[in-house]
Amino acid sequence: MAKPKRRYACTECGSVTHRWQGQCVDCSAWNTLVEEASETVFTAKHSLAGGGRQIVFEALNAPTAPLARRSTGIAEFDRALGGGIVPGSAVLMGGEPGIGKSTLLLQAAATMAKAGGLTIYISGEEAAGQVRLRADRLGLADAPLKLASATSVRDILTTLAAGPPPAMVVIDSIQTMHSDMIEGAPGTVSQVRASAFELIRFAKENNVALVLVGHVTKDGSIAGPRVLEHMVDVVMSFEGERSHQYRILRALKNRFGAVDEIGVFAMAGQGLTEVSNPSMLFLTGRDEPVAGSAVFPALEGTRPVLVEIQALIVRLQSGATPRRAVVGWDSGRLAMLLAVLEARCGLSFSSAEVYLNVAGGYRLTDPAADLAVAAALVSALADKPLPLRSVWFGEVSLAGEVRPVAHAGLRLKEAAKLGFDQACGPPDDNRDPGLATGQLRLAAMSTLASLVDRVMASA
Ligand SMILES: Nc1ncnc2c1ncn2[C@@H]1O[C@H](COP(=O)(O)OP(=O)(O)OP(=O)(O)O)[C@@H](O)[C@H]1O
Ligand SMILES: [Mg+2]
Repeated sequence: MAKPKRRYACTECGSVTHRWQGQCVDCSAWNTLVEEASETVFTAKHSLAGGGRQIVFEALNAPTAPLARRSTGIAEFDRALGGGIVPGSAVLMGGEPGIGKSTLLLQAAATMAKAGGLTIYISGEEAAGQVRLRADRLGLADAPLKLASATSVRDILTTLAAGPPPAMVVIDSIQTMHSDMIEGAPGTVSQVRASAFELIRFAKENNVALVLVGHVTKDGSIAGPRVLEHMVDVVMSFEGERSHQYRILRALKNRFGAVDEIGVFAMAGQGLTEVSNPSMLFLTGRDEPVAGSAVFPALEGTRPVLVEIQALIVRLQSGATPRRAVVGWDSGRLAMLLAVLEARCGLSFSSAEVYLNVAGGYRLTDPAADLAVAAALVSALADKPLPLRSVWFGEVSLAGEVRPVAHAGLRLKEAAKLGFDQACGPPDDNRDPGLATGQLRLAAMSTLASLVDRVMASA
């Protein structure tokens, strides 16, 4: 049998060697190596409970420096980040082609550079001249921003390591980056992962705020490995209709803040301007109240989206079987809601055709839409418009009760942010009263009958 090896461990740092030395090679402390109980070759080979270094546990209340956020110079961007960008953090920014990712980041980087931070913008997609033209158009050409067009992660990190650590580095985009440590073309899963890993490691070690632009796939998720989203601290998505001038910046994940804040921008020739009061964004085209239309604060995962539900009721003179047509919602759920309205509130839809549409091609799966659908139906039946700036949410039971739904606070917050001033929803004692912000008033209703009374009473 082979002779078991002796092991010496440092009492200062836990480092293990197989030879006694006067000085620990890891922490340079003197006379701290002591022999550890020997182990057999078999146990050393077959158990992980030995042969490693001792890790040091820390107390939760050990002193730590408070989170130092830096302003990007763009308030809506800061808001979506949870109050500014954190040095040493990695942010992944996704968005459709041409939505304005490069524009936003160039504006943020230039503003930070003007404020005195060393800021670096690396474009892997566009030549430096192209970026310069954009900077010219945005009126930012005089910002002391360091600009380069490069795709080799080794070149980028070599250059960054040679100078003083920058405050912020923008990589546009991670799909164009190439690491020579592994095989494969840029944009492949392994290349994206390896490049991101190296860049993020540099950012963490040097306390640099890193922003990676990420391409999105057809369904809107960030292209490349899903693990990319786990590797970074913040995942943001830049959204909007390209034909429309408004853009919304959301955090989908944030290790340093909440994800329920959005940043709103308008795209113009001079770049993105901040929209601090975005209520007009949604309300344009809705300046006349219409009977049968209700706004529902929906949730997409944890992301609130305000959608309009439209109902049309047509009375039939003949005794023909009336049609029920639904676009964007479950037809079974509509039948149930009509039955509850009939049985619990005494409203009759049996001789009327009912059409229900969720505007904008949106598909609702959220059970909290019940109350908004009911409000649209009652409003259409009574031919009484609902208040223009009101939102409706809540789940309706077969007994005609309105039940609490998930994330009521998030829905209210979004509605308030988008300029709504009235919300009708279920009573909920557990709701954080601080969540309903701004001028939004909440009318709690516990039964469908009280909804009918309210709609009938409205002017
Ligand atoms: N001269 C201009 N006047 C007004 N708007 C412009 C002008 N040039 C570009 N834009 C706007 O900027 C958008 C392109 O922005 P940007 O290049 O930042 O998008 P991106 O998200 O980085 O796109 P990609 O994914 O292709 O890199 C265009 O879709 C357009 O809306
Ligand atoms: Mg771009």
